[in-house]
Amino acid sequence: MPPILSDDQFAALIAELRGAGCVFAEDEAALLREATVDRDDLAALTARRVAGEPLEQVLGWAEFAGRRVRVAPGVFVPRRRSELVVREAVAAGGSTVVDLCCGTGAIGVAVALALPGSRLWSCDLDPAAVACAARNLADAGVDGRALAGDLDAPLPPALAGRVDVLTANTPYVPTAEIALMPTEARDHEPALALDGGEDGLALHRRVARAAPRWLRPGGTLVIETSPRQAERTAAACAAAGLHPRVVGDDELGATAVVALRS
Ligand SMILES: C[S@@+](CC[C@H](N)C(=O)[O-])C[C@H]1O[C@@H](n2cnc3c(N)ncnc32)[C@H](O)[C@@H]1O
Repeated sequence: MPPILSDDQFAALIAELRGAGCVFAEDEAALLREATVDRDDLAALTARRVAGEPLEQVLGWAEFAGRRVRVAPGVFVPRRRSELVVREAVAAGGSTVVDLCCGTGAIGVAVALALPGSRLWSCDLDPAAVACAARNLADAGVDGRALAGDLDAPLPPALAGRVDVLTANTPYVPTAEIALMPTEARDHEPALALDGGEDGLALHRRVARAAPRWLRPGGTLVIETSPRQAERTAAACAAAGLHPRVVGDDELGATAVVALRS
């Protein structure tokens, strides 16, 4: 197939993206070119990107834990830092995995793929996220379900006391700080995916309170958090009777709380 852009046209695309504030304009131009079949298609995707839509939503996928994960418009783009949650969950091990506030389902899918024979339950309140997660589970060939509802409400009661590992990357941005976020997140990711309440920890407290019901004795909760919130996330886990520790990865810029049920 002949290239859809000459060298000059490709250089102009890079300049257009750079002018719109895309820091990695060369890489983005190459990805947009690769994702499109003709000039009209490329122009349409470029216009969305120049208007500020996250690259991953424009392309329809994000790289996470070494795989391409589908990202539907309006669904939270999985961040590389969440690979710390995956790593800790996989280290905890087991065969029954729950991923709360699953978004695209990226975390749960990565954990399930690394734990052969496991079964995954992914839940989210946003129907668009649940549909996206269902497709990602199917694409990955993971044995599991994507369920819609508030936090742990959609989990089947029979799962109580049987979960080996429960992951949660909930919203954790304090409400007043949403306005300070990059416009890509503010304008294109739903407030439901970002807003963690007054101190950002409303969902962490709810997850901590819910976890003991689902975890088996010795089971593990892994929650993503931030360095300045980590001690309070851990305290919420301790208040729920779990045994938390804070873990971090400087390279990923990631912090998480790993909490054991005794
Ligand atoms: C920060 S995003 C993370 C998504 C995914 N875990 C990831 O790391 O890519 C938080 C997700 O929580 C979901 N959410 C927010 N409040 C919720 C609730 N009460 N119950 C279930 N899901 C909720 C949002 O729809 C969003 O998909």
